[in-house]
Amino acid sequence: MPIETRKPFADLFSRRDFLAGASAFTALGMAFWSGGCEACLTQIQNRPTRRNIAALSPTDPIVTAYRAAVAAMKALPASNPISWVAQANIHNNSCPHGCWFFLPWHRAYLVYFERICRKVTGDSNFALPYWNWTSSPSIPAPFWGDSSNALFDGTRGVTASDTADPTWVGPAAIESILGNPSFTLFASDKPPGGLPTHMGSGFGSLEGNPHNNIHGWIGGDMGNFMSPLDPIFWMHHNMLDCLWVDWNINLGNSNTSDASWSGYNIPDFVDENGNPVTVPVIDTVLFPLFTYQFEPCSPNEPITNKLTGARLQQFLKAGAPSTLTFGEQHEAGRAVSAPAGQAVSVPIPGGSGAFQNALGADKRNRLVLTLEGVDIPTPSEFFVRVFLGKTDANAGTPIDDPHYAGSFGVFSDPKAMAAMAGDHRGRYLVDITEAAQRLNKAGSLSPDRMDLTLVAVPYAHRQPKDQALTIQRVALATARF
Ligand code: C2O
Repeated sequence: MPIETRKPFADLFSRRDFLAGASAFTALGMAFWSGGCEACLTQIQNRPTRRNIAALSPTDPIVTAYRAAVAAMKALPASNPISWVAQANIHNNSCPHGCWFFLPWHRAYLVYFERICRKVTGDSNFALPYWNWTSSPSIPAPFWGDSSNALFDGTRGVTASDTADPTWVGPAAIESILGNPSFTLFASDKPPGGLPTHMGSGFGSLEGNPHNNIHGWIGGDMGNFMSPLDPIFWMHHNMLDCLWVDWNINLGNSNTSDASWSGYNIPDFVDENGNPVTVPVIDTVLFPLFTYQFEPCSPNEPITNKLTGARLQQFLKAGAPSTLTFGEQHEAGRAVSAPAGQAVSVPIPGGSGAFQNALGADKRNRLVLTLEGVDIPTPSEFFVRVFLGKTDANAGTPIDDPHYAGSFGVFSDPKAMAAMAGDHRGRYLVDITEAAQRLNKAGSLSPDRMDLTLVAVPYAHRQPKDQALTIQRVALATARF
């Protein structure tokens, strides 16, 4: 069913719900609106809708306002905290990646950026549009032209007609990501020490696949931590935010209840007046209820969460103990590497019945490929497809092959990579449960031994000269959450 036909999620608050919820919301959250509570309620019910930019004409007032906001911010000196460069510097200095602060940090970043857009344009209802790369895989038309267009970025490595690969953004890829009920596997892992870092302990599927690959594929400014210099950055992250809303609110999957996550206060942003603000992670889980809403973005009709109002708020704030517990880890026992464009296969010996658990019907049992010490040059010119039980897979093997098991790409920054010691350069979690179950049903899987093939696939139209994939530790783990 075409996604545009789905209704935005319904009014979530009655007056009573709102009054019950408002007291639980922090002072910072309350600052989003002014006036008496009746006004608050109306304001929440009419909160701005972030729209799919593909549904807007290039001269739509929303597109015009975004362009005007970007132009105004670019015209400010870098010393001004709401200038274009200062906003990108916030990201360059503080962005958490490869860890579970990725989603709340970028959500708050967008909320304050949106407020700056309102301030510099005087358009107090402005809502950031999003780029739905699933339904419109090329960078949208308003972002092209030449340097006279504030939304254009001349450093991109793609053209207006290039399309993002369905491996990362196609409906099947996104449905599989949204279908994963584990917060860690969906939203990335807890970082070592519990605090946000530039290169955390484990990329989950939303970050590791569509997020990282859109950055890498576009390249140029988008290929490093100054990526917010490209105006498409904000549209890209808005889509990711919409998918988090879908996974968490519409589909009713819990965020983690780990207090190191929900209790963290993000100190990195500035408001529309350039004053520093600190945003509690726990507030970010409620932003989509109170301050903005989305035109639907996921490839499927979601199962609508039955919770509304105060009960929904409670569900969102409580989260669940969703830390993934690894069972047996089966190691490949050697490092693997492949030049870009080529593949490498590695057998994972399990032993009798080793992987059996993950092949049953219980969705909480998963089979997770853990890749540690993933060394890929940045900016990288290729991504990685994983195949199970197909040792002759190569860059031409299609993703509708039943042996296709998952994909990831690298987004980092030479500076952040250099700061990381060899083995800790990157850890990626690729959930291969679906592929294993499919092959098992077809009778073509040995439950005692898994053959994994990693294919380093060059981004379209790139020539990855001398780039290679190296992974220090490859292991297959049964996991339960
Ligand atoms: Cu912090 Cu897509 O980047």
